[in-house]
Amino acid sequence: MSFTSIGEYRQKITVASIREHKVRHEPITCLTAYDYATARLVDEAEVEMVLVGDSLAQTILGYQNTLSVTMDEMLHHVKAVRRGVKNALLVADMPYGSYQVEPNDAVRNAIRFVKEGAAEIVKIEGGERRSELIRRIIAAEIPVAGHIGLTPQSVNVMGGYRVQGKDLSGIEQLRRDADALDRAGVSCLFLEGIPREVGSIITAEVGTPTIGIGAGPACDGQVLVLNDILNLTFGPPAKFVRRYGDAAALITGAVRSFRASVRSREYPSDDESYHLPKGTGVSLERIAMEI
Ligand code: KIV
Repeated sequence: MSFTSIGEYRQKITVASIREHKVRHEPITCLTAYDYATARLVDEAEVEMVLVGDSLAQTILGYQNTLSVTMDEMLHHVKAVRRGVKNALLVADMPYGSYQVEPNDAVRNAIRFVKEGAAEIVKIEGGERRSELIRRIIAAEIPVAGHIGLTPQSVNVMGGYRVQGKDLSGIEQLRRDADALDRAGVSCLFLEGIPREVGSIITAEVGTPTIGIGAGPACDGQVLVLNDILNLTFGPPAKFVRRYGDAAALITGAVRSFRASVRSREYPSDDESYHLPKGTGVSLERIAMEI
């Protein structure tokens, strides 16, 4: 538990408290963060969950998709975010290849996020086929967040980033996936890229809180990618993205102003410069006169 900068008491968010949010019908907010500065700002703005998403592959590292990002890269960012997050629940995304392997290796990788990154929960993509692995990770004392629907690590299998659960068999599969993960004991379930009606059905059917991204308003919480809400991604936004600010314009404007003031020699001003102590200044003038 800690105090905010204005002295208001804030409780540490835990996996137990997000479950209470669902029971009390209090919406849960989750945003991604990838470094110390954004983690501090997001945490101090009082979101309940901070996700170090493997979306950092594209947003921060400039990869084509999430498949390239490695364990070591993810850990590097989780550690930085950990130093900035005080109250929110810190979720680490397990990258592609870190859990689609032998179960013992997957558990070892999950442990690294807790031991080295001090994450409080790890996130894994995939439905009922992951339930056994999820049980094993939970048995290693690590809470797990599930992630079903449009799962970006399956982009090659899905043949692109496609909304899932649009026909009856797709809906049935998603319900089975959600039920299997709920029974396996996930602490929350991310629902991505599914019709709002399906998000609503699953949210009503599972005991675990659902966190939606492009899954409609009935989910117990909503997550967005920080760079998307700040206009810091360079492609056309997905349908569900709402821009809450324009950091791209802010950064470009600031950088252009800096360049202009350097070129006109208006920066740095006398106030922005260090000065010699008086005595040294006088001696220096004398030396200059002798030369
Ligand atoms: O990597 C990520 O940012 C995510 C969210 C989109 C849920 O998994």
